[in-house]
Amino acid sequence: MTKRQRLGVNIDHVATIRNTRGGIFPDPVRAALLAETAGADGITAHLREDRRHIRDEDIEALVAALTIPLNFEMASTSEMQEIALKFCPHAICIVPEKREERTTEGGLDVVNDQSRLSDFIKPLLDVGCRVSLFVEPDERQLEASAEVGANVVEFHTGAYCDYHAKGSNKSALEELTRISQCSTFAHKLGLEVHAGHGITFENVSPIASIPEVLELNIGHFLIGESIFTGLDTAIHKMRRLMLDAQL
Ligand code: PXP
Repeated sequence: MTKRQRLGVNIDHVATIRNTRGGIFPDPVRAALLAETAGADGITAHLREDRRHIRDEDIEALVAALTIPLNFEMASTSEMQEIALKFCPHAICIVPEKREERTTEGGLDVVNDQSRLSDFIKPLLDVGCRVSLFVEPDERQLEASAEVGANVVEFHTGAYCDYHAKGSNKSALEELTRISQCSTFAHKLGLEVHAGHGITFENVSPIASIPEVLELNIGHFLIGESIFTGLDTAIHKMRRLMLDAQL
């Protein structure tokens, strides 16, 4: 790998805790700035349709405060497109979104939504945003992602992480192999490769060792771990594991 793998820190769940009390603490922007100081290469924030964690004013405050890139996660709705065009974040990661889900439960079906997605992302590309599509490691989805003009694909690592946590080593390895082979395929198609969802200290190394994976986006585990050790220590440890995996 020629480039150092980047770590994007997702601060959604700082906002989740804040929203349980309806006040202003803890402040997700403060977490983002701490993450920046601790060596995060980017901050990810998902403005969901139901605003269950990040809110519009958080995006505005993040855009104003950050000096590292913001990766704005959103569904492909016209409301979100308008917000993205207003703030022009460095990157936009398009994810599927269902109201009843607890978190993003799978990748986009780019194959069956190709022409709509193509029209949807064009204005975002035109204003200079890097557009990423959150997909399952599936060659057909990658071909479709390249065709719609995306710059990046982010692989959903949730299945790999779930198998790993359950000790289903054979299934975890199969999923990892799929991610690794699809990373090579995506790279050949000219797509930059990112990965994320469910990543922890225990499962990060095999994903971080895939040479084409240029960025990991990690949220829930890091924010949870920071309760015990502080965000700075949690980020440093994750960064160390990522670097060691690439040796
Ligand atoms: N990448 C994407 C596209 C996501 O939707 C999420 C979850 O919001 C993450 C990364 C981070 O996942 P986690 O919070 O499980 O680390």
